[in-house]
Amino acid sequence: MTADEAAPGAREPAAREPAAREPAAREPGAREPAAREPAVREPAVHVTARAAPAHLAALTPHPGLDRFRPPARQLAALVDIAADPRGRVVVAETNGTLVGYVAFHPPTEVESWGADATGQLVELGAVEVAPGFRGQNIANRLLAASFADGGYDDAVVFATLYSWHYDLQRAGMSDLAYRRMLERLYRGAGLEVFPTTDEEVRSSAANALMARIGPRAPAAVVAEFHRLRKAQREPPPGAW
Ligand SMILES: CC(C)(COP(=O)(O)OP(=O)(O)OC[C@H]1O[C@@H](n2cnc3c(N)ncnc32)[C@H](O)[C@@H]1OP(=O)(O)O)[C@@H](O)C(=O)NCCC(=O)NCCS
Repeated sequence: MTADEAAPGAREPAAREPAAREPAAREPGAREPAAREPAVREPAVHVTARAAPAHLAALTPHPGLDRFRPPARQLAALVDIAADPRGRVVVAETNGTLVGYVAFHPPTEVESWGADATGQLVELGAVEVAPGFRGQNIANRLLAASFADGGYDDAVVFATLYSWHYDLQRAGMSDLAYRRMLERLYRGAGLEVFPTTDEEVRSSAANALMARIGPRAPAAVVAEFHRLRKAQREPPPGAW
């Protein structure tokens, strides 16, 4: 389904009240008021909960979507994820421009999560909103749309938060503050923080493992998630 939808929690722009009163009569000799700028209405940002590959491929990536790869390459990667039967891309777009997305895919092979024996662990691989569109609730809308259809209620969706992905410069915050911001964002979508032995996650206090255990996730899938999050051996005391 590719129908555009305004996800729950979307804040619609407040409707402008028409001018209620006529302007007061000017004093003789008073200056002409400056002509009002015509009201510029920002085009709406639409969220599509499951973008078809062809839909994505027809969009122009916003030049600021460069956090993980150059925008054109990131779009190509998103088209591949959308074409994967176990992948999903939720998009935010305006006037044919991709301004934000969330990507879900099977666990990355190179990490211990790739050893998932159940095939029902899902990695929330990335969420990105173009800089000029941040702080407008778009990431919240994207994540709400991702879970609204219950499609992940029988799965465990996890996200590894790595500080080297954070856009600290543009956000103007410390890595720990950024982690707190992401935790709040993901908690809003039902993910929680879990301890893990994953060395990459543990390599910085600004990293975290978060996951949403779907309310109908089979016990074997939940058990596999817990097995994998503890799969790496604890480093011996005093080791690097
Ligand atoms: C993280 C990111 C996706 C947030 O997108 P966004 O559209 O600006 O987020 P929203 O406007 O929906 O806000 C989400 C929450 O974060 C908070 N937030 C967003 N930007 C913030 C900032 N600069 N300072 C403090 N809080 C901030 C919002 O207040 C909101 O919290 P609330 O729901 O409690 O009000 C965006 O900053 C981004 O693309 N960053 C680069 C990529 C990245 O870091 N991805 C995550 C790692 S994969």
